Amino acid sequence: MKLTEEMKAKVESILARMTLEEKIGQMNQESPSIVGGFDVPFSELIEMLTDGRLSQEEFEKLMSTAKQDFHEDEIRAGLVGSVMGNDPRKANELQKIAVEESRLGIPLIIGFDVIHGLRSVFPIAIAEAGSFDDALFEETAHMAAKESRAHGISWNFAPMIDVAHDSRWGRVSEGPGEDVFLGSRFARAKIRGLQGDTSSEQNYVAACTKHYVGYGACEGGRDYNTVSMAPNQLFNTYLPTFRAAMEEGAATAMAAFNDLNGVPCTVNRYLLRDILKESFGLQGFVVSDANAIRECVIHGIAADDEDAGVQAANAGMDMDMGTHIYKDHLKKAVEDGKVSMEVIDEAVRRILRVKVWLGLFEHPYVPEDVIEAYEKGIPAGHAQLSRKAAQESVVLLKNEGGILPLDSAAKVSLVGTLADSVDEVTGAWAMGWKKEDCVTILAGMKNSGLDVAYYPCAGPEGGLNEDELEAATANGDVIVAIVGETTAMSGEASSRADLTLPGRQKEMLEKLLASGKPVVTVLMNGRPLALGWEAEHLPVLVEAWHLGIQMGNAVADVLTGAVNPSAKLASSFPAGNGQCPVYYSHPSTGRPAGKSKFTSKYLDAPAEALFPFGYGLSYTTYEYSDLKIDEKEDCLKISVRIRNTGSRAGTEIAQLYMQDVAASLVRPVKELKGYQRVFLEAGEEKEISFGLPKKEMGFYDNDGKYRLEDGLFRIYAGTSSRDVLCGEIFVSFKV
Ligand code: GLC
Repeated sequence: MKLTEEMKAKVESILARMTLEEKIGQMNQESPSIVGGFDVPFSELIEMLTDGRLSQEEFEKLMSTAKQDFHEDEIRAGLVGSVMGNDPRKANELQKIAVEESRLGIPLIIGFDVIHGLRSVFPIAIAEAGSFDDALFEETAHMAAKESRAHGISWNFAPMIDVAHDSRWGRVSEGPGEDVFLGSRFARAKIRGLQGDTSSEQNYVAACTKHYVGYGACEGGRDYNTVSMAPNQLFNTYLPTFRAAMEEGAATAMAAFNDLNGVPCTVNRYLLRDILKESFGLQGFVVSDANAIRECVIHGIAADDEDAGVQAANAGMDMDMGTHIYKDHLKKAVEDGKVSMEVIDEAVRRILRVKVWLGLFEHPYVPEDVIEAYEKGIPAGHAQLSRKAAQESVVLLKNEGGILPLDSAAKVSLVGTLADSVDEVTGAWAMGWKKEDCVTILAGMKNSGLDVAYYPCAGPEGGLNEDELEAATANGDVIVAIVGETTAMSGEASSRADLTLPGRQKEMLEKLLASGKPVVTVLMNGRPLALGWEAEHLPVLVEAWHLGIQMGNAVADVLTGAVNPSAKLASSFPAGNGQCPVYYSHPSTGRPAGKSKFTSKYLDAPAEALFPFGYGLSYTTYEYSDLKIDEKEDCLKISVRIRNTGSRAGTEIAQLYMQDVAASLVRPVKELKGYQRVFLEAGEEKEISFGLPKKEMGFYDNDGKYRLEDGLFRIYAGTSSRDVLCGEIFVSFKV
């Protein structure tokens, strides 16, 4: 977000004319509230739904008749700065009230969760990150920005850039995985894609980097749980993606629900003011997460709503998402001297700067022709881009016996309820897509011309139909089994303590194997799963995640060989539940896992991940050789040769890692420092090179000070975090 002096001046002139109530109004975000007609309060209704006293159907019937309050009167009075929603006509209606009926005509900034696409949903982030394709990250974000604006949304609550090491946490699905380097490159590309094309106000939105900060380190992988860590961990693992996003000009940030070392992020002055605004240079504003200001009372850091509001405002929280605490209490807090007018003015200035930068004053409405175009369908090219992103996100984990690619003449028995469930292809945090745009795996396989018969058999929600199973094994030459998680089993508030396949899916796989027919297993899931048994017994394992509206076509493209899979894992897969958290960039410890009893491992499980970060196979094979390390004045130049030793062309994601062997703090055994997508024809060999700037070879100490320390470094290059060539070099940083 680049502000011109003219934009800043416009903001100051508006600010100077605002009353205190109007200023506080800008700090208030409203969501449509449900009113009327219930015998019980709406919150009780939600509880009844959650504990099963009310069925989903009964709830939806009630909701379809309920009246929604869009807070028109408060908007007209200038007491609302932002609303949430994705209906373009409703957006225009509310915007018209703000612009034409409020005293100062300040437009609303309309926000929505467009995490991986709105209408043209593309893969969940943990999948897309596995493409290691920065251009793709940016392209899909740009598409999401255009679709957002077409629906009245000028503020995406994205990208989610929480590094996470524990896959029990359901929100692993929403972020770029376990690695800080990949996560930072992902963050930068997403900011460029969302905010970069300011050629028209239809093409860009304000990004909202979230959840600031450390949310992915919630204890036990249990969502919303407490977070404690040493300062060096905060600075080396959890802050870098936000630093990168701020360097890229991210307009806004959302504070995380969790406390960090005892202080909830929502009221954490050190995090919000000292680091995010002062040190990282946030240009726009910080918004709380939903209801998070009120939850500071429940955290036990605030006595009541007013106290929570005062603490949040003074800590640097500029906008209140959904609690009305700012609207109800800040005026009195200012009059009582608990919150200064400078604090209010700074928050409002930041909010207005984003609105001015978005061009909302000049173009507050969605043009009617744009709305009508989307009512007819998604724009040309969007489905193709979703399909390309999906193709590049599929990870081949195992392919024994050459079962894949499928023989085009084979009779395929397709099994698993996930194969034909249009509601599961888009994954967590996808709202705004239409069923008619979605391609299931069954539909995709039919589209590819395969002779496929479908047998539901079993799914994540339980049950196993033996008759269908018998028919599937009797009738097919090859069996393709789709197993995994429903969309609801990952995402927010979806932590799982047991990461094995839910329901009787494993039992189905065992029976399929027992038939003696070749079995191809495709995973549809939102997080790494504990696949110890599957990896040992199944001949073929394909990780297809939740790939978006084009999932079916992309999976068929890979299974038929039309596309040679190239993706790698952005998060390690555990062999069993007890391994969590498991990740590659761990410290050595003084007794790294080894044959001796007295080393760091388990008696009943392997110490290392089942499938490590950066792992993924291809229909061809690659060989690395000839690693060279040359020291230049300000960087290391690392080169390595890669040869395609198989029989078909492919794209390999070559990875560069380093290890600071001896430093003033223990450092990870490996840290990703570079990656490249390398296309190679069958038999072709290329020498590729990486530049590793010396200034990127340091780390933060427990005072948050960045340190570059002379010493021995190991340099690794290879096909995964585990399968690498290694070289060593002594580096002196004294220039
Ligand atoms: C949710 C999520 C956050 C989302 C917000 C608005 O609770 O934590 O990621 O952007 O509410 O929907």
